Amino acid sequence: LKFKSDAALLSGKRVVITAGPTREAIDPVRYLTNHSSGKMGYALADQAARMGADVTLISGPVTLPTPTNVTRINVTSAREMAQAAEKSALRADLFIGAAAVADYHVANAETQKHKKQSGQTGWTLQLAENPDIIARIARHEQRPGIVVGFAAETADVVHYAQDKLQRKNLDWIVANDVSRSDIGFNSDDNQVVVFGRDGQQFDLPQQSKSQLAGALLALFMKD
Ligand code: CTP
Ligand code: CA
Repeated sequence: LKFKSDAALLSGKRVVITAGPTREAIDPVRYLTNHSSGKMGYALADQAARMGADVTLISGPVTLPTPTNVTRINVTSAREMAQAAEKSALRADLFIGAAAVADYHVANAETQKHKKQSGQTGWTLQLAENPDIIARIARHEQRPGIVVGFAAETADVVHYAQDKLQRKNLDWIVANDVSRSDIGFNSDDNQVVVFGRDGQQFDLPQQSKSQLAGALLALFMKD
């Protein structure tokens, strides 16, 4: 996959990308989250803008700067991300779900700081499932032209990735093994396997997230 010759590959295209973790409130001072750094989603947004796309980046809380020529919408919870994504992504040319969306929110979240109750039986959080943002977008009647998911797995990467591709009605899924500390979540490099809905498989070698972003965008738009 070439890189430089793809400079205008996305000109006139509308691209929407989710990135980063979400945060699910327990009370006003505490939350549940995950290890996503947002680096892969931000690299995709940056490269898509360089390739001429009109890019909207829907971002959970991360410490990264907004890439040049990218419109960034900040969100906190998965339910906020779902709302922002449905507003921006319908009828887009390309939607990429790079966010590590929390699967659950706290159903018994408290509006005041929870006070420690020493000697009691502990504190039980009840978790309720969050909406599946990408599955909803990929099944919408105004579905974007191409929908791409990410699958961060710690085991059986191929099996789970292919299952998600079908279950969520995606065109592509990008799978990586987050049990390796040298690639994935907070690393600057990544190594992925990409599966397409027609059974295609592409193994992309370990490289920087920005190089990988260019290769992935070229792949998604190749036909
Ligand atoms: N995703 C989403 N909304 C959710 C959960 C996941 O849009 N509520 C998207 C992610 O952004 C990613 C893809 O779905 O593109 C796969 O996420 P993943 O967490 O691997 O899938 P899950 O269906 O949540 O399965 P798992 O039990 O492995 O977490
Ligand atoms: Ca999940």
